Amino acid sequence: MLHVKLLKVKDPAEMGKRAADLFEEMIASKPACVIGLATGSTPLPLYRELIEREKAGRIDFSKVRSANLDEYKGLAPDHPQSYRYFMQENLFNHISIKPENTIVPDGLAEDVQAMCSAYEAQIEEWGGVDLQLLGIGHDGHIGFNEPEETFPGMTHEVELADITRQANKRFFNSIGEVPTAAYTMGIGTVMAARKIIMVITGADKAEILKKSFFGPVTPEVPASILQFHPDVTVIADEAACSLL
Ligand code: GLP
Repeated sequence: MLHVKLLKVKDPAEMGKRAADLFEEMIASKPACVIGLATGSTPLPLYRELIEREKAGRIDFSKVRSANLDEYKGLAPDHPQSYRYFMQENLFNHISIKPENTIVPDGLAEDVQAMCSAYEAQIEEWGGVDLQLLGIGHDGHIGFNEPEETFPGMTHEVELADITRQANKRFFNSIGEVPTAAYTMGIGTVMAARKIIMVITGADKAEILKKSFFGPVTPEVPASILQFHPDVTVIADEAACSLL
């Protein structure tokens, strides 16, 4: 597992607190830092904790810039299942971050290539990502980088794997409504972040945690590439660590 630090915590609530500590530290040392954010259920305790800490005066998001990992293709920002909507509801509407300082790939982009290049260019103009938050899919995907024959580089369009659509259908009325494609930062974009935190909770993630950090580095398990990043902290609860 090379450089990866594994922080084992009791439960999702403690995961939220430990991950929030790392955000608090980063924002205190660099108030205009660039954070990379993720959706999914796993980061929710962290987002609640960040909201509480800003209310308590411990964190100030007013200068922070944020770039999200991914977005469903075809969903408008105000679609309740879009990742932009998720971020507004679960974090941005409750903290002092400025709307113009938050970016999420545009699900309605007409010129996909131009949108993806502009996304990368914006991150670069901000000086790159200081702290990237990641969840993990059951097949080891990060963002929406699904298992493939090679590691995809930069922000791009992806077809979603069946296992991913099945896992995410809980948020939609039916499987038919789950988009079949998405836009995501590439593995190259993620690996360029100076510091990475991956949050993993629940027994259903135990197998993929083990495969990703204690198995071979392979594009068939996209998260395994993190073994080659110099500064990764995995915060996992007891259930997720149960196979270690
Ligand atoms: C989605 C997101 C990922 C996320 C994954 C796991 O597919 N694109 O960024 O990590 O779901 O989500 P959860 O935390 O709900 O298990």
